[in-house]
Amino acid sequence: MSTVILIFGASGDLTWRKLVPAYYSLIGKERLTTDISIIGIAHHDLGEQEFRDHMKDGIERFATHGFDEDLWDKFSEHLHYLKMDVLDETLYPKLNEFLQEKVPGEQDRVYYLAISPVLFIPIISNLCANGMMTEEEGFRRVVIEKPFGHDYDSAAALNRHIHSIMNEWQIYRIDHYLGKETAQNILFFRFANTIFEPLWNRNYIDSVEITVAESVDVGHRGDYYDRYGVLRDMVQNHLLQLLAMVAMEPPAVLEADALRNENVKLLKSVRPIMLEDTVRGQYIGYRNATGIAKRSQTPTFIALKLSIDNWRWQGVPFFIRSGKALRQKVSQIVLHFRRPPLQLFELHGNDHTVDNMLMFRIQPDEGIQLAFQAKMPDSREGRIVDMSFDYDTSFKGQPIPEAYERLLLDVILGDASLFSRSDSIEESWRLVDPLQKAWETNEGPALTFYETDSWGPAEADRLLTDTGFSWYKIEDPETTGESEE
Ligand code: BG6
Repeated sequence: MSTVILIFGASGDLTWRKLVPAYYSLIGKERLTTDISIIGIAHHDLGEQEFRDHMKDGIERFATHGFDEDLWDKFSEHLHYLKMDVLDETLYPKLNEFLQEKVPGEQDRVYYLAISPVLFIPIISNLCANGMMTEEEGFRRVVIEKPFGHDYDSAAALNRHIHSIMNEWQIYRIDHYLGKETAQNILFFRFANTIFEPLWNRNYIDSVEITVAESVDVGHRGDYYDRYGVLRDMVQNHLLQLLAMVAMEPPAVLEADALRNENVKLLKSVRPIMLEDTVRGQYIGYRNATGIAKRSQTPTFIALKLSIDNWRWQGVPFFIRSGKALRQKVSQIVLHFRRPPLQLFELHGNDHTVDNMLMFRIQPDEGIQLAFQAKMPDSREGRIVDMSFDYDTSFKGQPIPEAYERLLLDVILGDASLFSRSDSIEESWRLVDPLQKAWETNEGPALTFYETDSWGPAEADRLLTDTGFSWYKIEDPETTGESEE
């Protein structure tokens, strides 16, 4: 049985930068042994050789498995290209014939929609109408890239349409943050150890922060970004999924539905967001980028205080923030623990630095760090010290794979654990929608502006300091001193 991957939108950046390099690396690392063919589909007039050359370039630059001429020769024989107008339904029988001609015999098929969201429904409908989703001769799965809708109504409508013509289990909605090795390790850390889980609740944890900061600005994606902004581009998906991993209950078994039930249960427990618990910012210079409206109100930075109404987390604030053009690219989750009931020792440092703290370094410098008090030698005082795990040291010689490698492999294996189910997507839209709508009518705290290369607007610090909390200070790697947030 052969596996055929059809990529709709094959001339785009994602195919070149992520998808084809990931398939190549999976084969190079012998994680994929099946007979795989990749068919790129796009409206560009590309010859097969041109397509292969472009993919080769992507592999040389981005594949985590080093370039190998022999492997490439074998791989490229299974790389094909078809120019096609995906809106023309009469072309789908021809597409079917093309697939049979290139890959004779029975096939499992993955249809990968790396294409504009307005084409999701037409493509899926055409595939179904032409019998290309029936599973008589092998599986038929569809992978859908983000954005999955632009608000609750559009996401729910897309789900309804999908469910009316195919099964939920044939759909794989990608959130690449779930494929990150370090994000998956959150569940491992929590549920494969006994040490921390008993403390993982309101009795011991004071607050939680989730930061996904990017140093890149909006770049060439102005057209898309100005319509979406950071709330829809990052929070609705990546940050809420990280939140769910940190805060959800353990599933009874490690199966896709059990995990996703817990994920949805957690998202349903998040209290509606209060406008006064939000900060939105835009970096100075954003409006000069290509594709951005001159008076754009689109936020490129967000900070929020979230509350989870359940037994485990009642009263524990979850602070989340994300932004572009910030000082560093860093994604981390920090759990701040409560103080001991009685302070017997003199502790060196300020409020911010004396408490126990556990940090998941999602990227870069991947690892986990635990901060606790130790007595300073020859002194009566204590000082915070670290116990650290980092991937580089503990798993030497085992590079961290690209998030897409794990996700693409899971689609072929039929494991949907790391993909968002329809109800999870809808719950996350339900949470962010009111905020988006309020911003559109200019309700709530006004948009603030921040310098690039900073940690965002000062209001984001005040969101915490006003209630006695503060963001964990991120060290500046460029200087020996500390960067002030
Ligand atoms: C994407 C967003 O989903 O994630 C981008 O659309 C963002 O705006 C990117 O830059 C961040 O991903 P990563 O893996 O680089 O942190």
